[in-house]
Amino acid sequence: MSGYSLMIHGGAGVIRNPERFEPSLHRIVSAGADLLERGGTARDAVSLCVTLLEDDPLYNAGFGSVLNADGVAECDAAIMDGRDLSAGAVAGVGRIKNPILAARTVMENSAHVFLIGAGAEAFARRNNVEMVPESYFQTPERLADLARAKARNETALDHVASQGAPSAKKLGTVGAVARDRAGNLAAATSTGGMTNKLPGRVGDSPVIGAGVFADNASCAVSCTGVGEHFLRTSLARTVGFLIEDLGLETQAATDEAIRRLVEKVSGVGALIVVGRDGVCARAQSTPGLLTASARDGVINVKTA
Ligand code: GLY
Repeated sequence: MSGYSLMIHGGAGVIRNPERFEPSLHRIVSAGADLLERGGTARDAVSLCVTLLEDDPLYNAGFGSVLNADGVAECDAAIMDGRDLSAGAVAGVGRIKNPILAARTVMENSAHVFLIGAGAEAFARRNNVEMVPESYFQTPERLADLARAKARNETALDHVASQGAPSAKKLGTVGAVARDRAGNLAAATSTGGMTNKLPGRVGDSPVIGAGVFADNASCAVSCTGVGEHFLRTSLARTVGFLIEDLGLETQAATDEAIRRLVEKVSGVGALIVVGRDGVCARAQSTPGLLTASARDGVINVKTA
């Protein structure tokens, strides 16, 4: 058995009062690290971390999900296991408490990879994934965010919203990447998407190869930022290509992916990566990125 590596993110952008995220990031990465320390799997670690991130209203995922133009949450999430490239994803779900657990259930209990909307919710219910009413997501803060976005006739994403926009103090898509002590990789990403987005809009987070990717042959990746940019560049898969096919080191591949994102589509966002070598890497085209990593007991929280 070798060591373990874990990295989580809570979104990217212009992050106001970054210190308020530190306790949450530390608590959540510690929970995942404990699991990996005890010999738990990368799949379980990323699933646990993203569930905890979804339950924290600081972030734009799960309970903290932003609302679409109709005033309801449409959450997206995906998980991928680098052992065998198994994957599960859900999109446009507004009645599932933890979309990442629904995505995991798709991966483990269905013949499919990606379920959307009412079908995804019915599948989750049949598989005893916890359901909630739509009102669970319609918190006073998210309703106020939506009202401000509508007043300004804008859509607002993650912390990127703060670039002159009203949602300056928040929010972030979440994700986790891990390498367990057996050397297996996994990745997970979850989001509420964009405040005031068109109903039916899906970003990169639940799309395998765009906002999430894991393959033991290369790396595990989770992205955050403007989903359309990551969809158009298949960015998460690109990191795997750079490592497996071009032989780049983990941090160099992560930097190169962001360089391509900016060069090709003037992309706005960030990504976290754990390489097959156990190296934790991050890169961003945004001013800020919230991350925490744990490698063999050493925890590192970064809020810039
Ligand atoms: N990156 C999250 C989204 O665009 O929905």
